[in-house]
Amino acid sequence: HAHLLGIEPLAPRDITTILDLADQYADRGRSAAKYGDALAGLTQINMFFENSTRTQASFELAGKRLGADVMSMAMQASSIKKGETLIDTAMTLNAMHPDLLVVRHPHSGAVNLLAQKVNCAVLNAGDGRHEHPTQALLDALTIRRAKGRLHRLNIAICGDIAHSRVARSNIILLGKMENRIRLIGPPTLMPAGIAEFGTEVYDDMKKGLEGVDVVMMLRLQRERMDGGFIPSEREYYHRYGLDAEKLAHAAPDAIVMHPGPMNRGVEIDGELADDLRRSVIQQQVEMGVAVRMAAMDLLARNLRSRATTETVMA
Ligand code: CP
Repeated sequence: HAHLLGIEPLAPRDITTILDLADQYADRGRSAAKYGDALAGLTQINMFFENSTRTQASFELAGKRLGADVMSMAMQASSIKKGETLIDTAMTLNAMHPDLLVVRHPHSGAVNLLAQKVNCAVLNAGDGRHEHPTQALLDALTIRRAKGRLHRLNIAICGDIAHSRVARSNIILLGKMENRIRLIGPPTLMPAGIAEFGTEVYDDMKKGLEGVDVVMMLRLQRERMDGGFIPSEREYYHRYGLDAEKLAHAAPDAIVMHPGPMNRGVEIDGELADDLRRSVIQQQVEMGVAVRMAAMDLLARNLRSRATTETVMA
């Protein structure tokens, strides 16, 4: 693949290839061994048009650990503020010959559009409600390491599904790997055309969580609720917030996940989020660096092999 724009175009074997390499990077990180220099001589530019802590920091660290020259644009201070368009901004940076462009944008489809205009590898760091592929990959690696497999698991994705690119990429990935997926949340926060996803849908947390192996919580994405239904936080926590009582309905060894940023006392009890016997939230962050190293390493191999082919053909 020339870009990483979403999970949708990936085959199960592509997903396994990325996860296997990320697994190696994760193990090397724990043993203090050197990561190698897969991105040496390459330039990586990060363009985040929406706030980020985890994704931006981990893409930057991943690039630096593999030897890339990394520049993170401060988009708030860029000429976007003077009216320059996304595409003109991207073309301007493209003229400086980056090899890897990491892009987050509030509009669904914006990153795919940009990828058609530039001649470097583009990685989608989250576009609107559409996809957040590296998040789904890091979640998959966390599940695989905790459960020893990534198939035939019962996985509950809970909360604001409608506005969540994390949910969408996870539903696609976990479905491709043949897991059973349950979506739990208020009907007002379920996306239209939910039947097409091939998932089970629940309005009741205790019923939906019955016997599941993995519980994935999501944040209420108020920034994408344009004037429509906005639940009260207290009411929401009471009905849909994950606490020990609701979790008791899941399998005894079920793991608790959250992509972050997390709102304690809204979608998850703070003590449960910190309970290292159940919560793998910190492992998710750790796997985020490994998965982004693997994704950029594989795209760089593709860039280098294309460059060799072009030289031979010229
Ligand atoms: N999970 C995630 O995308 O977090 P950030 O918005 O902090 O990058």
